[in-house]
Amino acid sequence: MHYSMLADNHRKPTVLILGAAGLLGSRLNVFLKSNGYDCITHSLSKPAQYHADISDAEQATNLFNIADPDVIINLVALTDVDKCEREPNKSYLMNVRTVENIVHWIKTSNKTCHLIHISSDQLYDGLGPHKENDVTLTNYYAFSKYAAEIACGSVKSTILRTNFFGKSSVKDRSSITDWIYDSARTGKSIQVFEDIMFAPISITTLNKMIGLCICKQPIGIYNLGSRHGMSKADFAYFFVRSLGLSSRNMSRTITSRVNFLQTYRPKDMRTDSSLFERELGIKLPELADEIKLVAEEYREVT
Ligand SMILES: NC(=O)c1ccc[n+]([C@@H]2O[C@H](COP(=O)([O-])OP(=O)(O)OC[C@H]3O[C@@H](n4cnc5c(N)ncnc54)[C@H](OP(=O)(O)O)[C@@H]3O)[C@@H](O)[C@H]2O)c1
Repeated sequence: MHYSMLADNHRKPTVLILGAAGLLGSRLNVFLKSNGYDCITHSLSKPAQYHADISDAEQATNLFNIADPDVIINLVALTDVDKCEREPNKSYLMNVRTVENIVHWIKTSNKTCHLIHISSDQLYDGLGPHKENDVTLTNYYAFSKYAAEIACGSVKSTILRTNFFGKSSVKDRSSITDWIYDSARTGKSIQVFEDIMFAPISITTLNKMIGLCICKQPIGIYNLGSRHGMSKADFAYFFVRSLGLSSRNMSRTITSRVNFLQTYRPKDMRTDSSLFERELGIKLPELADEIKLVAEEYREVT
């Protein structure tokens, strides 16, 4: 399936990717460019076309005026849950103030710019799968991501509540599958949680869905996960099995048995993505199939 809108559109939209050097951004940038999108990349400190602190109103406005985007994809965030808990104001600045600055520019510039904002499945807890109105906030990271969504809501925006996995192309930024793969290859012991449920999607699928959102620009908040989520423990064992590697260094545990988690983590973040499927006219994949797909990314380098 090809998601590019370019064939039936008069003009290519200019897409500004904020946080383009991060875990998701570095792969999204490559995906969109290889599908013919006109992308401008931004980072705070890593190589990119533009550099700006988006929590600073003046720097953010200058960047947006120069880039003059038709679509902004916002991936800027503080994703470290423990750091958000320890430093709530930093969490506000990086997760909320940044969005307030983007929204202010969209409202005050005299052009139509669509915002695609990436939110999180951490906004849920209690028995899933969760629909979009079933929010339960349990830590500062979740609070800040929710506050960012509220800010987004005052402009034309697509908010994607998601979680993702796949091979990182950034040296100092590992994904959950990088962590599991590394432990299976090196024999380093890891503990995997059987009391945390989720339904993430592969970065590959997420990139395609973001491409589709650039074309269709649906307005609102959408869950974007795979079908039939599972526990993090089952995810890890299934991934290692898909790679044909040994799982002898992995052990199952539950959150109350470990002492390395500083901050409460939601226990069931599985999302019901039927609203997104209906709105976009697509069917999202099964988590098991996504894991097999991602295992191929690692097999290519094994
Ligand atoms: N990682 C996950 O598993 C996960 C799960 C669910 C949702 N999400 C959401 O998905 C999005 C992307 O996550 P990710 O894991 O790709 O994030 P990431 O790797 O941590 O990248 C975040 C980017 O934001 C940039 N940044 C941070 N503060 C900034 C500021 N004040 N001004 C400008 N840029 C700033 C970073 O700077 P540099 O460019 O200097 O590195 C980095 O490029 C986030 O909204 C996150 O909440 C992530």
